[in-house]
Amino acid sequence: MYFDTHAHYDSGAFNADREEVLAAFPEAGVALVVNPGCEVRSSETAIALAERFPHVWAAVGIHPEDMADMSDADLDKIEQLSKHPKCVAIGEIGLDYYWDASHKEEQKALFIEQLALALRRDLPVIVHDREAHGDCLDIVRQYPGLRGVFHCYSGSVEMAQELLKRGWYLGFDGPITYKNARKALEVLEICPLDRILIETDSPYLSPVPMRGKRNDSRNLVYVTEKIAEIKGITPEEAAAVTMENGKKLFNI
Ligand code: NI
Repeated sequence: MYFDTHAHYDSGAFNADREEVLAAFPEAGVALVVNPGCEVRSSETAIALAERFPHVWAAVGIHPEDMADMSDADLDKIEQLSKHPKCVAIGEIGLDYYWDASHKEEQKALFIEQLALALRRDLPVIVHDREAHGDCLDIVRQYPGLRGVFHCYSGSVEMAQELLKRGWYLGFDGPITYKNARKALEVLEICPLDRILIETDSPYLSPVPMRGKRNDSRNLVYVTEKIAEIKGITPEEAAAVTMENGKKLFNI
């Protein structure tokens, strides 16, 4: 059984068949899914999906890419949503200097406000870090009580070691199956088994051999196989350990 700790079923890519896709998971071996929001609306949708499907859980938050459209009341709305019994994390939140390097200070301020919210609510965080490794690390270092995952981890081995020492989990997705995956595989090699989470980031980041198609949680099988290969364990063991890790972090 697999736990997809990061997938976006609120995405328009699932408008045609969202119900069928989600309903098919338990029989396909996908026992749990965490659906993070990226702003108020997708966070509300994540909660609604979690209410509808017992195997779906929600995270709520404002993604740095969606910061431009937010209003002053949005953080209060996120805090209210975070009190829902099926909300297990604050996310996805973080810094993205790939899409927008001109509002770094605003991104950092929003990230910090949501880390404070997570601490207040005693929830883990799901961190999006794209080309902002140094600033993300500097910020999370200032909050030693925080728990969480660096989703689709793309930093260096050294940064991974620093995060692991501080109790963080690292999320691995379809890109570890790509030909150019050298750096992520080096990180996977040094990452203890009890800190690995598996994710799809559906509908994005489809693993080989589904690359280029819409992704969904059933493709975790390919991510899990790669992790098993690198760690020298069976895919069943990799699925079981990542299931336990996810349940522990998200308190499910
Ligand atoms: Ni995501």
